[in-house]
Amino acid sequence: MSAEHILTAVAWPYANGPRHIGHVAGFGVPSDVFSRYQRMAGKKVLMVSGTDEHGTPIQVQADNEGVTPRELADRNALVIAKDLQQLGLSYDLFTRTTTKNHYAVTQQLFLGLLKNGYVFPKTQLGAISPSTGRTLPDRYIEGTCPICSYPSARGDQCDNCGNQLDPIDLIEPRSRINGETPKFVETEHYFLDLPAFAEVLGEWLRKQDHWRTNVQKFSLNLLDDLKPRAITRDLEWGVPIPLDEWRDRPDKKIYVWFDAVIGYLSASIQWAHLTGDPDAWRPWWQEPDSRSYYFMGKDNIVFHSEIWPAMLFGYSGIGAKGGTPGELGALNRPYEVVSSEFLTMEGRKFSSSRNVVIYVGDMLSRYDADALRYYLAVAGPENQDTDFTWSEFVRRNNDELVAGWGNLVNRTVSMTAKNLGSIPAPGALTDADHELLRTSQAAFGTVGDLLARSRQKAAVGEAMNVVGAANKYLSDMEPWKLKNSDPERMASVLHVALQVVDDAKTLLTPFLPSSSSKVHATLRGSDGWAGMPQLRELDEETAAGSPSYSVLTGDYETGARWESTPIDVGRPLGPPTPIFAKLDPSVVDEELARLAD
Ligand code: MF3
Ligand code: ZN
Repeated sequence: MSAEHILTAVAWPYANGPRHIGHVAGFGVPSDVFSRYQRMAGKKVLMVSGTDEHGTPIQVQADNEGVTPRELADRNALVIAKDLQQLGLSYDLFTRTTTKNHYAVTQQLFLGLLKNGYVFPKTQLGAISPSTGRTLPDRYIEGTCPICSYPSARGDQCDNCGNQLDPIDLIEPRSRINGETPKFVETEHYFLDLPAFAEVLGEWLRKQDHWRTNVQKFSLNLLDDLKPRAITRDLEWGVPIPLDEWRDRPDKKIYVWFDAVIGYLSASIQWAHLTGDPDAWRPWWQEPDSRSYYFMGKDNIVFHSEIWPAMLFGYSGIGAKGGTPGELGALNRPYEVVSSEFLTMEGRKFSSSRNVVIYVGDMLSRYDADALRYYLAVAGPENQDTDFTWSEFVRRNNDELVAGWGNLVNRTVSMTAKNLGSIPAPGALTDADHELLRTSQAAFGTVGDLLARSRQKAAVGEAMNVVGAANKYLSDMEPWKLKNSDPERMASVLHVALQVVDDAKTLLTPFLPSSSSKVHATLRGSDGWAGMPQLRELDEETAAGSPSYSVLTGDYETGARWESTPIDVGRPLGPPTPIFAKLDPSVVDEELARLAD
């Protein structure tokens, strides 16, 4: 089979605070569903991410809290890693951008691009606050977009037309911190020569017909306005610029987005080191038929479909200025940029400051990870903005997970346990039996195909259709009435139903790993069907000077396969333990009361 190697590259959450469910809805859970499926389908998956710890978002929040950026990042990196662990996200490595390895790889990319002529220094005008004399970060400047006239464009990007901006281009710029007009002074920076990639980017993007259409179109549109982008900033906190005269300057650092996208590569390299084979990352980045899938929210598209590919091209020596690959060798471009839309909360934008929010940690302290994962799979922002409501969360949990899937498992297993004590052999099968078995077997193709194309809503719908068909089958066959009249037929019906329960467990594993493991343990008597991430403390100093840090990693090669496997006739079955908790409708009011009005 082709494309043996699949890189799942998941957007790196900022470490400026705990993450809310909007952050994991668009890319955290979907990237895990995708990776779990691909592993079951026999692919060699490498799933990497980490916390994004540099830049003004961290600096500004640290200033607000009166701590150092390093203290803030250390604290939140651990909180975020624990949340993602609890959510069951199967990262091969979830690391940080403040590791020594990440600094070294970032500097390596910078130097490779510089050597090929795609990075160059230039003096430009930078904004400072006239009242404090401090540098005013791009995203804290607001003004009218010079391209589309949107009145609240930010200094780095216009959220209306999606174009990358420079603060100096804004019409009527003002500080978002105190409203004053910024003063622009001369400052020297390094720039990435994006226009030198216009041709290769265009040629490459036009070939990406397997992308979601809106993502491909949006990315192609960005090419109309390619300008050199500053990749350094006037900031104390960040990766040092690896050049004499610059390295030790306290006021100049590499731009956070330049270093963050490199995280996909540096995390792969760190993962390889942790496995003991430092070159183990190479197949995912260098074999021509390996595929990389990048998962993110729509506000990140430009960085993944334009800037990061340009960096990869340039480092590999491809672009208008030619060149040769840097020390690491030529690197693959993204195979697909999978971008999601936004989640809102009870009709409003998530807002930590206004308390329109539910943090991942709080959610998981009250509800099961699989309940949240299921909700996000069926009602997440896959291809349009969607709204999270507590009433819908409770309804989906109770009607679909508990009354649909949980009930199917429960009644099939308990009827078998009570009447037979073990998995029965089937007698002669009827048309209805064959039809149900065919439905569930066919779903492996349908659901798998949808998952490979990141159409997860449709995929989970198809998997749940199998559950619905099995529930209907039981209602039609009424095996509970057959105990005395036709025990042989009862055994056949329960055999068929148990087989389909086992199939549905497999089909639902990418979405519901913990509960599927429980069903597997019930039917098969063995644990560890779906691998779970582990927090591992590394006894190694960070580049920012913290003595040790924790990462998420795990062993996900559990042998679980994407196929129907015959159940073991004769295996004893005990009474089932419930796999999902029904939620009291009062949960809705309790949760709504926690939100500010
Ligand atoms: N931290 C960024 C955000 O939350 C995402 C960074 S993704 C990466 O918007 F590509 F830079 F890693
Ligand atoms: Zn605009």
